[in-house]
Amino acid sequence: DVIDIRSLGKHGIFTYDPGFMSTAACDSGITFIDGEEGLLYYRGYPIETLAENCDFLEVSHLLLHGELPNATQSEEFGRAIRKNSMLHDQMSNVFRGFRRDAHPMAVMIAVVGAMAAFYPDNNDVTNPESRKRAAMRLLAKVPTIAAWSYKYNMGQPFMYPKNDLGYAENFMHMMFATPCEEYVPNPILARAFERILILHADHEQNASTSTVRLVGSSGANPFACIAAGIASLWGPSHGGANEATLNMLEEMGDISRIGEFINRAKDKTDSFRLMGFGHRIYRNMDPRASIMRKTCHEVLNELGLQDDPMFKLAMELEKIALEDEYFVSRKLYPNVDFYSGIVMRAMGIPNSMFTAIFALARTAGWISQWCEMNADPEQKIGRPRQLYVGETRREFVPLHQR
Ligand code: ACO
Repeated sequence: DVIDIRSLGKHGIFTYDPGFMSTAACDSGITFIDGEEGLLYYRGYPIETLAENCDFLEVSHLLLHGELPNATQSEEFGRAIRKNSMLHDQMSNVFRGFRRDAHPMAVMIAVVGAMAAFYPDNNDVTNPESRKRAAMRLLAKVPTIAAWSYKYNMGQPFMYPKNDLGYAENFMHMMFATPCEEYVPNPILARAFERILILHADHEQNASTSTVRLVGSSGANPFACIAAGIASLWGPSHGGANEATLNMLEEMGDISRIGEFINRAKDKTDSFRLMGFGHRIYRNMDPRASIMRKTCHEVLNELGLQDDPMFKLAMELEKIALEDEYFVSRKLYPNVDFYSGIVMRAMGIPNSMFTAIFALARTAGWISQWCEMNADPEQKIGRPRQLYVGETRREFVPLHQR
């Protein structure tokens, strides 16, 4: 049942809903989730169909414009993305201001935020054309920013985008090629990477998307909004879970220690949680996790890594948790981040880049939601209320008498 609070008049009702467990802050026509049934649709298409048949740019077009592109639109969309994939040359100095060991997410927040200074012509949020250009610029440049944050970490020269490659392949090229050595992407890995991007492209009003909307509701420029989304995504309860899952598996190290970690996760006096398990909305298997699980097997077979100890450990942990009464009764299933980290690790991507890749994929959803919000003439500034629990009125005591 949905109660539209507006219908109750200005002072009709006051709801207290920490964590927004039951509060819709907007309406949206982009993504539909049924957590009980484990369904996820982008603009009416099941995620399984899109992951099987589309590339990431088709899905981005769908999220942004509401329809899958036809052949001409697909060509035009791809061309516009390729045309914008370079960064303003001065932006390389923003990277150079960081320590070499800076976390890629810290670098991404700064560089994406800095785009507002490099592309100020996109800061007019009231103009639909300007919003569209901002969306294209972000979709085109965020992969370059993510890959360069890795190159900077590695102490390697930045690689420029190669416009004859597809979106996923181009990102892999910018990550793994060097001026001395070409990177020839394995098609199975490129397809798996494309799938990771599609599965992470949007997920309705999660913490980072709500952040983008809240920041955007004040009229802030698109780059500031997406930088805020990246910041929100970084936390281990959200996008940071893929990195945290692999760090946890590395700490666990061996199948013999699974019981110890499960017991810690069940212990209510310990704040530790089993990373990569549970979801606020899905009380069934996350449909993205089912696809990523299959992809995980495909990639590991392709790379001959079926016996990789980390993969075996992950599969054993999954099996034990799925049979454990604590996890079963709370409907805690492995989520998409449990498997995506394993796939990316097998591809040679370091743990610290996992959340940056999530951010690059989610940029498509964030900017689509931002455009949807700004196109709504009834859009209001987001302004949650609070339940005040502090002191009541007190008498002031001058400093010398305190
Ligand atoms: N390990 C152990 N127990 C857990 C876990 C977990 N991973 N997740 C939830 N629980 C328990 C809680 O302790 C709580 O138990 P209780 O009823 O006995 O108190 C119960 O399950 C319900 O949990 P909530 O915290 O109420 O669930 P919420 O919806 O607030 O949290 C979240 C969802 C944040 C994803 C949580 O499951 C979690 O922390 N998981 C681990 C981090 C993770 O993998 N995050 C990725 C999410 S997916 C994404 O962002 C793409």
